[in-house]
Amino acid sequence: MSGGNQIYRRGDPLVKIPGLMDLHSRTDYDKGMLSISDINNDPWAALESWVKEAVNSGIQDPTAFHLTTLDGNGFPHGRIVLLRDTRQGELVFYTNYLSEKGKDLQANPKAGATFFWPHSDRQIRIRGTVTKIPVSESNAYFNSRPVASRLGAWASDQSEVVDSREMLDAQFRHVEAKFSDGTVPRPEHWGGFALRPAVIEFWQGRPSRLHDRVKCKRTEQGWDLVRLQP
Ligand SMILES: Cc1cc2nc3c(=O)[nH]c(=O)nc-3n(C[C@H](O)[C@H](O)[C@H](O)COP(=O)(O)O)c2cc1C
Repeated sequence: MSGGNQIYRRGDPLVKIPGLMDLHSRTDYDKGMLSISDINNDPWAALESWVKEAVNSGIQDPTAFHLTTLDGNGFPHGRIVLLRDTRQGELVFYTNYLSEKGKDLQANPKAGATFFWPHSDRQIRIRGTVTKIPVSESNAYFNSRPVASRLGAWASDQSEVVDSREMLDAQFRHVEAKFSDGTVPRPEHWGGFALRPAVIEFWQGRPSRLHDRVKCKRTEQGWDLVRLQP
């Protein structure tokens, strides 16, 4: 890439872009520590407290997490979604059931979730199984969204190809006219999934790369907690 509007292609020599952060910069993590006793045999409460801390910190999108699904060939696919609820020990997020992630999860209801909060040097990794939440809950959440977001759910066939931006805008105008009285019901293909963790790992950055890691595995009785090497 040599600046301007040129596109970088694989194999092109990498040049340092003026103003871009030094790719070899290093962070020393020193904002906290974590031991097994801090989790107090209740990883769910610890997770909620880390999420709450992030929400209260004022950062943008404090509940954003990386969601991994698996396609029919076993390939992982990742993308960011927003955590909207943590009810009953499950992580709830909303999406289009016909999107790539929606199809992946309905064919293979296993998922990974990873949160990263740079302001507190914290990461949480989760893996578990996913179910669709009840229609009544999806309706309640959908109806709480701003009208424009509700219209957007109708206007976009998420993850499908569209010929142009103009076409997408035209689809939006079409649904705007269709629901001009302001009543916008939830599309059947839009709703929530709930991820029930089988494993939750807490990571707290520490100096000298000797980070604290506590892995919590669900058992019949509760949770098994172990400390991992960084
Ligand atoms: C900060 C952020 C939050 C997002 N939140 C959601 C969300 O809650 N639900 C959703 O379906 N997509 C969300 N997206 C868009 C997804 O990352 C993704 O592009 C989209 O869902 C299509 O994914 P898929 O084709 O893998 O199904 C978000 C993206 C970002 C960057």
